[in-house]
Amino acid sequence: MAKVIVHADKATAAQAVAATIRDLIVAKAQAKQTAVLGLATGSTPLPLYAELVRLHREAGLSFRNVVTFNLDEYEGLAGDHAQSYRYFMEQNLFRFIDIPRENTHVPAGISADAAVTCADYEAAIRSAGGIDLQVLGIGRTGHIGFNEPPSSLDSRTRRVHLDEVTRRDNSVFFGELSLVPHGALTMGVGTIMDCRQVELLAFGAGKADIIRKTLRTQPSAACPASWLQDHPRCTFHLDPEANARL
Ligand code: F6R
Repeated sequence: MAKVIVHADKATAAQAVAATIRDLIVAKAQAKQTAVLGLATGSTPLPLYAELVRLHREAGLSFRNVVTFNLDEYEGLAGDHAQSYRYFMEQNLFRFIDIPRENTHVPAGISADAAVTCADYEAAIRSAGGIDLQVLGIGRTGHIGFNEPPSSLDSRTRRVHLDEVTRRDNSVFFGELSLVPHGALTMGVGTIMDCRQVELLAFGAGKADIIRKTLRTQPSAACPASWLQDHPRCTFHLDPEANARL
């Protein structure tokens, strides 16, 4: 069963998850190993990335021995497109820390063959030794990554069709609904379930209903995040508003 921590606010939640990530990076560095992080985009992880940047600047946390894999990317957007998730990561985290750029992975939104890109992404995760800690947000459809309902427990990195609810929610970033891509490449539910540790963040009243559904209904493809109930090491970090209906 997933663990739930209700924090005073999102800043406090971000500090707690950043401290967990710091401890992992430091422990791996001491063991002369690489820390493999899975990362998310969207509004939710912004305070987490701000806190990781602060730890780098003010507490000397180094990301030289960190490898990252992002969950997803919009289909058809190049890495230098202002709404691409590669661009988001550069703007909000990577350019402020000392991570070698070749250590950062985001699925390619434009490629000759999406199926090959997805298979290569799975292979790259495997050859890095698997993901130690995956950061997640959650969509109002119950998606994790871009695994919209229905998404099975054994789904892997693949091309998906975005739910209209998700396109509308994300249109705030694009300025207009028609500009939001219809497709994406995303790690699968199975890829996420393989991560050794999962830290999910959800903030605000808009997430209260889906958090209830995720944790209070039988795990099923109809609410992909609900599969996390069966993850051996998964924590939900909520603010009081996201926790309101639990
Ligand atoms: C982002 C991702 C999505 C978001 C979710 C919540 O990489 O995979 O699952 O985490 O759509 O988005 P926000 O945080 O903007 O509410």
